Amino acid sequence: MDCSVFQYIGIFTSLYFIVKIVLKIIEGSRLYIFSTYPDFSKFGKWSVVTGSTDGIGKATAFQLASYGQNIVLISRNEEKLRNVANEIESKHNVQTKCLTIDFSDDEEIYDKIADFLQGLDIGTLVNNVGISQEISCFHEHPNLTNLIRNIIRINIMSVVKAVAGFDFKLQCREVICMTQVVLPGMVRRKRGLILNVASMAAVRPIQIMTMYSATKTFINFFSQGLSYEYESKGITIQSCMPGTVRSNMTEKFSEVQKMPTAEQYCKSWLATVGKARWTHGYWKHAIEAFIMRQLPSNLFHKMVGSSLKSALKAANEKKNK
Ligand SMILES: NC(=O)c1ccc[n+]([C@@H]2O[C@H](COP(=O)([O-])OP(=O)(O)OC[C@H]3O[C@@H](n4cnc5c(N)ncnc54)[C@H](OP(=O)(O)O)[C@@H]3O)[C@@H](O)[C@H]2O)c1
Repeated sequence: MDCSVFQYIGIFTSLYFIVKIVLKIIEGSRLYIFSTYPDFSKFGKWSVVTGSTDGIGKATAFQLASYGQNIVLISRNEEKLRNVANEIESKHNVQTKCLTIDFSDDEEIYDKIADFLQGLDIGTLVNNVGISQEISCFHEHPNLTNLIRNIIRINIMSVVKAVAGFDFKLQCREVICMTQVVLPGMVRRKRGLILNVASMAAVRPIQIMTMYSATKTFINFFSQGLSYEYESKGITIQSCMPGTVRSNMTEKFSEVQKMPTAEQYCKSWLATVGKARWTHGYWKHAIEAFIMRQLPSNLFHKMVGSSLKSALKAANEKKNK
């Protein structure tokens, strides 16, 4: 049977997509169906989790404690920190330490963090703290100056400083007392794990949530770049891009019941550690992101734009009532 050029193109295109989908299914099964967890103790005795009094951060802290990790909890509310620490200690036979920090504050907070972490065998750092933003056109945001400062400090500076800031401190002090603080300590010990929580909003630009989407893209690229830099030094760095997860951040959404709980999400996500440089952490989110990536640009932005704009309109109508 003779085939025309168009038929060949059709056959090869179909084969290309079939192979792509089959490979994705194999990869998805490896990450999300056959769940095996790394031995977190091989990285070190302590895990540091930022933004750990609620949602994904709290669930991650619990999950890591269940693998025998001692936990440093960092958030801005002292009472909530103490409650979470007590809960962890009563449930799991581990130690906890709490540090009250507001990541929207000036850079001096990183001196305080470095001092606090000094001398601990930190194997795992989870840069989870993050804020979202109100849906709004950039210049129409009701509190634009605060948004710009806070979202950059909380979503970006917290992640970068946890690496660079501590590095700087160590170089200053190495002469004095060989302080062990996050990345330099990990490099010296040739072991360590850094998990950075980005978002599915980093997959493609999300209009009218542009600041949030851009900060999360930064985290994703920063994490993946670093993971190549440091893998030969024995350090695993992963970017995690969750879709929607039930938490304070998403409780206002109408579809909250369809989202995984933070506990379900973290259980699934932590099973991907060591298996992927980046992950969506949960099978449903991986499928959503796969579809998101395949959509033609115009169609994607039209769909996202119209759904976010109607959400914005509904929010404005509610406010004006
Ligand atoms: N939930 C989702 O659907 C979703 C999707 C994609 C990505 N993410 C990302 O996942 C991470 C966690 O989100 P989540 O939904 O679990 O949030 P969440 O439930 O709102 O919890 C945020 C945590 O961060 C702490 N926090 C907030 N602002 C802080 C600040 N200025 N200084 C110190 N701590 C602060 C909060 O503590 P206090 O309020 O007690 O101080 C709380 O422990 C974020 O980076 C978010 O962007 C979430």
